[in-house]
Amino acid sequence: MCGIVGYIGGGPEKILLDNLKKLEYRGYDSAGIAVKSGKNIKVFKSAGEIKNLIRIVKPCENATSGIGHTRWATHGKPDEINAHPHVSENRKWAVVHNGIIENYADIKKDLLKNGVEFYSETDTEVIAALLEFYDRGDKLEALNKTLSVVNGSYALAIINRDSEELVFAGNKSPLFIGVNGENVMIASDIICFDGFCDKYYVIENGEYGYADKSGIKIFDKFGKKEKEPVRLKCSFSGNENLYTHYMIKEIYETKDAVKNIYEYYSEPHNYEMITKHDFGKIKKVRLIGCGTAYHAALMGVEMIENETDFDCSACVASEFRYKNPKIGEDTLVVLISQSGETADTLAAFELAKQKCALTVAVINVEYSTLAKKCDIVLPIKAGVEKAVASTKAYSAQITVLYLLSLMLKSAVSGCGFSADEVINLYNQCEFGNVNNLKLLANVFQYNDKLFMIGRGKDYFTASEASLKIKETSYINADTYYAGELKHGFLALVNSDTFVIVFATEKGILTKTLGNAEEARARGAKIILFTCFDLDSDITDKFYYVIKVKDVGSSLQGVINILPWQIIAYYTSVNKGINPDKPRNLAKSVTVE
Ligand code: AGP
Repeated sequence: MCGIVGYIGGGPEKILLDNLKKLEYRGYDSAGIAVKSGKNIKVFKSAGEIKNLIRIVKPCENATSGIGHTRWATHGKPDEINAHPHVSENRKWAVVHNGIIENYADIKKDLLKNGVEFYSETDTEVIAALLEFYDRGDKLEALNKTLSVVNGSYALAIINRDSEELVFAGNKSPLFIGVNGENVMIASDIICFDGFCDKYYVIENGEYGYADKSGIKIFDKFGKKEKEPVRLKCSFSGNENLYTHYMIKEIYETKDAVKNIYEYYSEPHNYEMITKHDFGKIKKVRLIGCGTAYHAALMGVEMIENETDFDCSACVASEFRYKNPKIGEDTLVVLISQSGETADTLAAFELAKQKCALTVAVINVEYSTLAKKCDIVLPIKAGVEKAVASTKAYSAQITVLYLLSLMLKSAVSGCGFSADEVINLYNQCEFGNVNNLKLLANVFQYNDKLFMIGRGKDYFTASEASLKIKETSYINADTYYAGELKHGFLALVNSDTFVIVFATEKGILTKTLGNAEEARARGAKIILFTCFDLDSDITDKFYYVIKVKDVGSSLQGVINILPWQIIAYYTSVNKGINPDKPRNLAKSVTVE
C-alpha cells in the first residue's frame, strides 16, 4: 500500500514531490525522498502527510535523479526514522520499497553478526544493507545477490551515489517505467505518467534492471529482456478542483460510471466471451473480494441465484485463500477488486487457478495484476477512484455483477442479453435531498455507535453503508440481520440508540417493519430507509424516514447506497476528518 516513484532528470525534487502527492492516496503515514546531488545522496523524510515533507525539502545542488515514497506502515511505527527512503550504512545506496520482505528478520540477524548497523525497525532497510554488503562495484551483481537472498513482495526503486542510474526490481508488487526522451520515471502506479509519457513498461514478477538517460535495461533470470511498452490509455486528470475531496467527487461520478457500463456492455464483443461461453461443466459460482468488494460479492450472489440455477456463494478473500474450497473445473470464480492489487484477492485467484476453476475479474484498474491474470475480465468502467473509501466502484461493481447474472442466464438458457436495464438505473441515479442527508450527518457526528439492520439485500447494503461510516468517521456502525434482533442484539438497545432500518425488499417489508417496532418499543430512535410509500401511522413513530426511488430491479442496491455514501462523507467532514485519507487505512491493501 505504499507509493514509490523514481526519476532521472533535472529538478528531481519537485518531480518526486508532485508525484508523491498523486500517490498519497495509497498510503500516507510518512513520506520521503532521496536525491542524487553530485557525489552525495540527500535524504529528506517526514512523518504524516506529504505536505510535511514538502515543507522540509531544500533544492539540491546538481540534482540529477532521485526516489520518493509514501508509506503505509507494515514494519515499524509510522515515523520519520522508519519512513523511506532507507540508506545503507555508508550512504552509498538509497532504497524505496512497496511490499513485504518476509525473511527480513533473519537477514538482519545475519548482517548484524557481520557488523552491519541498523537505525530503523523496517524490513526495507535490509535491502539497502544487502546492496552495500554485496557491493563490489557492479550494481547489477549487488542487486542480483540481494534479490537472491530476500523472500517476499517488492517493488524497488534504488539510487547509488556513484552512478547516474536508477536501479529497479519487481516481484508481486506493481511497478511501471515511463520514458520521455532522456527523462525516466519509475512508479508503483501509472497515475504518475499522466502528462509525462504516453507509453510505459510493466515490470513483471522477477524482473529487474536499471535506467539511465539512454533508456532502460530489463533482465530476468534468463538474462536481458526486450519488452514492448504499453500505451497509456486512461487520463487521470479530471475536475478535481470542483470538489473539496475525492470522495464526494467520486460519489457524484457514479452516474457517469453507470453510463460507461451501459455503453461498454452494449458492445457484443464486450460480453460475448460470457454469453457464448459453454458453461456446461460449470455447476457453481464463487464470488470473492475484500471489504467493499466483498459486499458487492454478496449482492452478486443474490443476482446470479435470481437469474440462474447455479449454486452460488460469496467468501472474503482472506478466508478463501486459507480454506480448502470444493472448487474445480466445475466452478466459476468471480474475483472482485477495485484496484486489482489486493494481496488476499490475488492469493484467492492463485488458489482458484490451482484448482482449475474458470476465473473472472470484475475490476476497475484494467492494467492491474488481477486483470492480467484472470481468464475473463469484466471492467467496471468507473474511472480512477482515489478516495480510500470506495464509492462509485461499489455501485459499478454491483451493476456489472447484475449484467454478469444476465450474461450467465443468456449463456445457459440461450435467451438474448441486453444491458438496457442500466439505462433505467442511469435515469434514476439521484441523491435525493442532500440537505436532509447533511442534517443526519450533523446528528451522527455526535454518536460513537449506530446500529443498522436489514434482511436479504438490505443487509448487504447496510453492511456497505456501515463500512463507509466506520472508515471515514470512525463511528462504530454495527450491522445485524433484522431477524436476529431477538437473538441478542436487542439487549443493546436503549433510548440512546439509533437503529437504522433498511427496508427496500418488498417481500419481507412487513417483517422488517416489525423489527423496527421491536427496537422502537425499547426506546430506540428509528431511522427508516425505504423506497416504499408507507402510511403515516407507521412512519410518524420513527425519528426520521429516508425515502429513495424504487427502481424495481436488482439494481436497487445502487440507488440504496448513494445516500449512505453522502451521509458518511458529511459525517466525516463534520468531525474534521479527511475522508480521502482515513487513519490507519490505504487505498490498496497490497500486503496481507
Ligand atoms: C472500501 O471502502 C475499503 N477501502 C476497502 O474495504 C476496500 O474495498 C478493500 O480493501 C478491497 O479493495 P479492492 O477492491 O481494491 O480489492
